[in-house]
Amino acid sequence: MTPESFSFLAGLVKARSGIVLTADRGYMLETRLGPMLRREGIAGLDALALRLRSPREEALVAEMVEALTTNESSFFRDGKPFEHLRRLLPRLAAARPAGQPLRIWSAACSSGQEAYSAAMVVAELGAALGGRRVEILGTDISREMLERAREGIFTQFEVQRGLPVQMLVKHVRQEGTRWRVAPELRAMTRWQFFNLLDDARALGRFDVIFCRNVLIYFDAPTKSRVLAMLAAMVAADGAVHLGGAETVLGLTDRLVPAAGERGVYEPAQPAARAG
Ligand SMILES: C[S@@+](CC[C@H](N)C(=O)[O-])C[C@H]1O[C@@H](n2cnc3c(N)ncnc32)[C@H](O)[C@@H]1O
Repeated sequence: MTPESFSFLAGLVKARSGIVLTADRGYMLETRLGPMLRREGIAGLDALALRLRSPREEALVAEMVEALTTNESSFFRDGKPFEHLRRLLPRLAAARPAGQPLRIWSAACSSGQEAYSAAMVVAELGAALGGRRVEILGTDISREMLERAREGIFTQFEVQRGLPVQMLVKHVRQEGTRWRVAPELRAMTRWQFFNLLDDARALGRFDVIFCRNVLIYFDAPTKSRVLAMLAAMVAADGAVHLGGAETVLGLTDRLVPAAGERGVYEPAQPAARAG
């Protein structure tokens, strides 16, 4: 691939998704896009770059971006965010007016384990939420992952990663060689395509936002922009969870670390903001 083709393709991916492909990632384009090139009968990455210069190739651009997402996820990933959720939800449920549901957003949900882990926490809390309804929205830029998440079907390997056995027995049903999340948990969830670079206001306000292990793929200006958007979307007494390798430091002052918690952020009080 010529350097021109690489920078054209990398520029397109960044503009569409925020995902940064550094020059040493040429190999990643080759391996991840190979199947798509073969399927479409495109000779190689230079030929792809040429084709994508045409404005009519929107579907192919979307397919390329999707192929370059990293969809690694697991149930109860890193543990602590879900312990925090277990402590926070009863307090939020008690603070909300009657009839107002609690809303949780898994903002780069991949195949759904994060949202279903939150649903299991809600189910386990039971009466501690005083009958409060909880809505969980999972969004992602990968339509293939959203379809998997919506089905709620996982392999033996996936359910063995991070899901405590008593939760598995209670909330997941075996279907042949695979496992399907119980209908009452699936009923709490909704799945929708959403690009973190887009205007999120139509999604409404959330009490808790998980935006974990996605900012790592973005550059600093994109991280700042997404973090400011999350700060605007979360309730004043709510929480935003970032991944273990992610932070708000140097990127926004609209979210501040929650005292004594790692990876948990709260919206800054308006007076504390510099802009
Ligand atoms: C590594 S997974 C993280 C899954 C989950 N949050 C977790 O921590 O286990 C990253 C996800 O971010 C999604 N993603 C990447 N860029 C995105 C964007 N601009 N908007 C929405 N989702 C995006 C990818 O499709 C992928 O499913």
